[in-house]
Amino acid sequence: MLSLNKKLRSGLRPLAAALTVLTLAAGAAHAADDALPKIPNKKPLRVGFAQTESNNPWRLAETKSFKDVASKCGWQVIITDANSSAAKQVSDIQSMIAQHVDLLVFPPREEKPLAPVVLQAKKAGIPVILVDRNIDQSMAKAGRDYITFIGSDFIDQGHRAADWLVKATNGKATIIELEGSTGASAANDRKKGFDEVIAKNPGMKIIASQSGDFARDKGRQVMETLLQAHPDVTAVYAHNDEMALGAIAAIKAAGKQPGKDIVLVTIDGTKGGLEAIKAGELGASVQSSPFFGPLACDVAQKYAKGETIPPWVKVSDRFYDKSNVDASMQYGY
Ligand code: AHR
Repeated sequence: MLSLNKKLRSGLRPLAAALTVLTLAAGAAHAADDALPKIPNKKPLRVGFAQTESNNPWRLAETKSFKDVASKCGWQVIITDANSSAAKQVSDIQSMIAQHVDLLVFPPREEKPLAPVVLQAKKAGIPVILVDRNIDQSMAKAGRDYITFIGSDFIDQGHRAADWLVKATNGKATIIELEGSTGASAANDRKKGFDEVIAKNPGMKIIASQSGDFARDKGRQVMETLLQAHPDVTAVYAHNDEMALGAIAAIKAAGKQPGKDIVLVTIDGTKGGLEAIKAGELGASVQSSPFFGPLACDVAQKYAKGETIPPWVKVSDRFYDKSNVDASMQYGY
């Protein structure tokens, strides 16, 4: 019995060894799968920039910042425009993956639909940097599935807009909220931040909250309808300047005075927004910088050199109201 056991054990030894080799090999393959792709050391670097839409000054400034940085950074930038469709942005990125660009940089239009394509890029060995908006971190994670997210703290932007409004209205207002594109991190987090502060102020009430898709004309149309349903509105929080400018047009068309009858606060700091502050029609705008080209270039170069990149490269934002608008016009875009 003893010798049979011995025989069995010695017979099993090569099998166990083979299994160990297999396990180690599988582990190594897994580690390789998990490693973030590298940025190749070559010039020009073929960089895909997949824009969400080009229907407002913010988007145009963002795209321009990539065009402007290209030659300085040694990039050949391939630009696409998803025309406000998350599905088109996904297929734009898939076609860049098929062309095997060296680096993908993009603002995901919406948090969930754009997460799988980040994983597809990683599988194809293409490094990704997300700018401006982020994706759902339960679906794909910064630092693990893509290099990093470069962008503002949208929740904090919402806090700052709400803090200003509480002060400007002495803590008493009936508010219409014009939300950005449904499912976008910029809309989700700007709403979260603003609503958190408002909830702590019993005199402040959000009476309606609806998406204007970050677009001026949609903002005007939504405001027109909401003004009819809520003639008692005294304040508007728009998730971007363009929708606030649309709301200002709707308020004027309804025979009310923006800035007096209805106070407005918003986010972006576009030239149009700053001019509206100067004209007394818009109360304040929290800056949200669109100039990601140079930041993405810097991060890509550091990453290529092997430097550690944090999962969130945070952008800090200015704040504009009547107290500093004259000195701040130079920052408008
Ligand atoms: O994600 C940033 C937002 O998207 C900007 O506030 C807006 O203008 C843009 O369309």
